[in-house]
Amino acid sequence: MDAIRVRGQSTPLKGKVRISGAKNAALPILCATLLSEGESKLRNVPALRDIDTTAALLRFLGRDVKVDAPIVTVGPGTVKPEAPYELVKQMRASVLVLGPLVARYGRAKVSLPGGCAIGARPVDQHLKGLEALGCTIRLERGYVIAEGPNGGGRLKGAEVYFDMPTVGGTENVMMAAALAKGRTTLVNCAREPEIEELGRILNKMGAEVDGAGTDVIHVKGADDLHPFDHAIIPDRIEAGTYMIAAALHEGSDVLLEGAELDDLEALSVKMRAAGMTITKEDALMRVQRKGPIRGVNVTTAPHPGFPTDMQAQFMMMMCLARGESVISETIFENRFMHVPELQRMGASVVLRGNSAVVQGVPKLYGASVMATDLRASASLVLAGLVADEETEVRRVYHLDRGYEHIEDKLRGLGANIERVKGVEG
Ligand code: EPZ
Repeated sequence: MDAIRVRGQSTPLKGKVRISGAKNAALPILCATLLSEGESKLRNVPALRDIDTTAALLRFLGRDVKVDAPIVTVGPGTVKPEAPYELVKQMRASVLVLGPLVARYGRAKVSLPGGCAIGARPVDQHLKGLEALGCTIRLERGYVIAEGPNGGGRLKGAEVYFDMPTVGGTENVMMAAALAKGRTTLVNCAREPEIEELGRILNKMGAEVDGAGTDVIHVKGADDLHPFDHAIIPDRIEAGTYMIAAALHEGSDVLLEGAELDDLEALSVKMRAAGMTITKEDALMRVQRKGPIRGVNVTTAPHPGFPTDMQAQFMMMMCLARGESVISETIFENRFMHVPELQRMGASVVLRGNSAVVQGVPKLYGASVMATDLRASASLVLAGLVADEETEVRRVYHLDRGYEHIEDKLRGLGANIERVKGVEG
């Protein structure tokens, strides 16, 4: 397995970093290609493990997929609508093929994704939404078996109410509704920018989607959808991660190319409160740190609230703040696995239920640490930038799921960082 070695330094990061395309937009959009025949082209796609996993799943289903980052082409093929556990277990987002498959082929057999490191992550809302569109859902030996009305007929538009905002649930049902007969109203939807982007795609394909990105989405299904050619939005979580990197040294001055400041409002507010200067300069976002980091309390929430995917990275920054901060995680039940690793580096964090009380310390100490999930591993690499001596982050395959060339991008900002092959996990 690979590891990433970072030598902590006192010199601030300076320079420009290009933000890649959004992983969490690319994944559902690749699944949306199943809704139509013909060749779809997706541009600005990051070179990530999760993209490769999704491509492998689409190929297994029968489509002809070419991954040549930053372009992914999904060609026609004879599809068998069955997604096996071996593929779905590698990436939970694979469950997003369920809606498109049952909407297009009248039936689908998709492995339940199972839990993951950060929580149980059930899919009951996905299934509830598809049932509202007329699907019969059976759970058998770890698989979801979905069937359209009357033994595999066309789905029918309906009103769908989500018990809580769910990104994947909203996306799965939106895609199914795009081929359903008539109109569907989805209520209490997740409002992430990636959902808005999926709405743009479905409109390009010939559905009529209105309100994506708000909590009520209207979809008028089409009898047939056509392929698309589209360049996806930048990755706001990757951008946020580099914003935090720019906050770790006094004097840092980093330009982010391609980041959408509007999608990062909640994070920017908290970073300004912590003492950072964040400005827009033409098409670039500039992050500067001039003085000390101030302790700031944060509670994660569905978009447009503070993103749970930025919680670990922000906590790492608070480990070096002056004073105390309280970080509360309300989305996932087990998203503090970076805490024991940060504690090994000298951080002062006490867990109280779904909150972490962080006392800022003057410095962190380099150590060998273990990555456990995608965003936790990012927070450990960030810690290594500013800890003394060397930090070795192991099991970086977690990191490679969602960060394109992270060591090259950080080195381009002046970090002393390298990838090491063949390190036992
Ligand atoms: C998406 O996951 C993202 N993944 C996650 O990013 C992100 O953390 C999450 O949204 C929240 O923003 C992708 O987009 C591929 P949810 P998703 O359904 O769709 C509960 C990363 O780091 N829930 O919005 O799985 C669920 O347990 C990843 O890039 C149900 O109870 O998240 C959670 O507590 C990690 N039943 C909450 O809702 C359901 O049917 C939000 O989950 C669905 C969800």
